[in-house]
Amino acid sequence: MGRIEELCALVDPCASFADVGCDHGYVSRHVLKSGKCGNVLITDISAKCLAKAEKLLAEYIEAGKCRAVCCDGLAGVPTDTEQVLIAGMGGEEIIKILSEGFIPQKFILQPMKNADKLRKFLLDCGCKLTYDGIFRDEKFYFVIKGERAGGKQDYSPAELAFGRDSIGGAVLKEYAAIELKKSEAHLAGCANAVRREEILKEIELFKEILQ
Ligand SMILES: C[S@@+](CC[C@H](N)C(=O)[O-])C[C@H]1O[C@@H](n2cnc3c(N)ncnc32)[C@H](O)[C@@H]1O
Repeated sequence: MGRIEELCALVDPCASFADVGCDHGYVSRHVLKSGKCGNVLITDISAKCLAKAEKLLAEYIEAGKCRAVCCDGLAGVPTDTEQVLIAGMGGEEIIKILSEGFIPQKFILQPMKNADKLRKFLLDCGCKLTYDGIFRDEKFYFVIKGERAGGKQDYSPAELAFGRDSIGGAVLKEYAAIELKKSEAHLAGCANAVRREEILKEIELFKEILQ
């Protein structure tokens, strides 16, 4: 499956859905076309990007099933939206969006980097992570699905780094083998003691996954 299909598969049928930073709007097209939701909000900070989704979803906008808003993060998203997708942005940007806005009832987050920071943020906020895995579509992607409330999950350092549902799987092993080599090369060329300490910790985690 490709990245978009992987994301689509995680969307639950719902009363309202928002695709924050929708760009082309492919996930929203799946949500509308499949009938998973007939009340979809597409948003993007860039009017130019949003226009691509508006074009793709014109028939649904015409039918009153989809609405487009140009806004930063969750600023234009109703707080009672049942399910929110934020995909294809950095983990720190996603944290900023959630901190400045709100944590949605249900969310699907696909950070391009810093997934560990995002995971920790969500757990610290008391969220329940219902799926916390990894997939490969040429590159590796972490994806975190969860709910605002009901979380009291104790994560190990490896689970925090890679996602609880990734552990033990073949995709994470592939990822760890590649990243271990990169980290070992970084370590060899790194003279900074603090950074070396960080890299050594990463190496330990990758080795734990590969055992
Ligand atoms: C790489 S695209 C990802 C598009 C789509 N979500 C996906 O996963 O394929 C990132 C999109 O997020 C938008 N974006 C970046 N920061 C944003 C923010 N703070 N609020 C809303 N949209 C944002 C960008 O304009 C861009 O269209």
